[in-house]
Amino acid sequence: MDNTNSNRRIVYIGSDHAGYEAKSHVIDYVSNMGYSVIDKGTYSGESVDYPDYGVAVGKAVAKDPGTSGIIICGTGIGISISANKVKNIRAALCTSPLHAEMARKHNDANILAMGARMTSLKDMETIIDAWFSSEFEGGRHKIRVEKIHTLTEK
Ligand code: RB5
Repeated sequence: MDNTNSNRRIVYIGSDHAGYEAKSHVIDYVSNMGYSVIDKGTYSGESVDYPDYGVAVGKAVAKDPGTSGIIICGTGIGISISANKVKNIRAALCTSPLHAEMARKHNDANILAMGARMTSLKDMETIIDAWFSSEFEGGRHKIRVEKIHTLTEK
């Protein structure tokens, strides 16, 4: 069965220790927007490795078409690099609402990455608002996005 449309209200979320507190805030914020949030960890502020959580969210989103993800580490860099190793994942590190809007409209990004040491909780909220209110435009952008997934190391 293709759950793509009903899955649009499901959001997988993950962070490392540096993003743990921001993750709790984001879970409340996104839940209050009416989304079902599935927390893939980490579950405390104890030091962990960000690739484990980037990949966990990436695999969850990739397996469940139509869902999206939010990942948070200190800068947002390590966890986004990690998530982008998963097939069919397009994780975008966003520091402004315009980044989030364009990541959805032009790149059909399916995971939003943010840095808890870079972006305030208030700014995360405006980035999240832009993310969820923007749709992929398709057309010429679809061709480019598909091309990303044909790339292999030369
Ligand atoms: C953890 O100290 C930090 O390196 C991590 O959260 C992230 O910023 C890596 O990109």
